[in-house]
Amino acid sequence: MVTTIETPRLNLRPWREDDIEQIVLGLNDLQLAKWLAFVPHPYSTSDAENWVRRCQAIASTGDRPTAYEFAIELKAERKVIGGVSLNKIDWSAGTGGGGIWIATPYQGLGYGREAFDAKIRFAFRDLGLTKLINGYFDGNENSWAMQRKLGYRRVTEAPSRCMADGRQTIEHVTMLLRSDWQDREDQTSDRVRSEA
Ligand SMILES: CC(C)(COP(=O)(O)OP(=O)(O)OC[C@H]1O[C@@H](n2cnc3c(N)ncnc32)[C@H](O)[C@@H]1OP(=O)(O)O)[C@@H](O)C(=O)NCCC(=O)NCCS
Repeated sequence: MVTTIETPRLNLRPWREDDIEQIVLGLNDLQLAKWLAFVPHPYSTSDAENWVRRCQAIASTGDRPTAYEFAIELKAERKVIGGVSLNKIDWSAGTGGGGIWIATPYQGLGYGREAFDAKIRFAFRDLGLTKLINGYFDGNENSWAMQRKLGYRRVTEAPSRCMADGRQTIEHVTMLLRSDWQDREDQTSDRVRSEA
């Protein structure tokens, strides 16, 4: 099953073999990988090949997969600048998790927020999930800023480990409920209507 999401500046689409070079360029960067749990360092071409194969296998599991893994492609340049996932989907509980990375040269330009926002909308509106669970490693203020602006709140902390540099750290676990997201959506459309 092929799922593609279009936003004003981005296409979120399935990973392909011809993305491998961009994946390695993006992820073979310790300053980025130190914020991710399961990315080894150094990150090699064969790591990226395995990743693409894995994503293709997940995508071919039918109409209720346990994960959607998206490449984030800049529409204007047709260039992959990161990845975003909706994973650990539990269809009976209505929950999902997931993560995101944006290659360092493209950070701080609103792409992360745009992609994560689209993933949230997809999870709640299109798939009917009711709760998204995320998180961020202690010190990753950029990720927390992005998540907070999208309505996530911190719910707990848990010990965790970063594969890239091997450090033990704390993960701040975050959560977004569909009901809270819907309230924010309604407020935004009320504001837009009253400004019109
Ligand atoms: C976290 C990450 C995905 C955010 O994506 P991004 O495209 O850099 O973030 P955005 O530009 O959309 O910023 C969203 C908000 O977060 C803040 N922010 C995030 N990154 C920032 C940066 N590098 N510089 C300044 N502000 C930043 C801003 O307040 C921004 O709010 P605004 O839209 O009102 O300006 C990205 O920085 C990244 O890939 N980091 C490394 C990997 C990682 O941490 N992944 C998440 C693991 S939990």
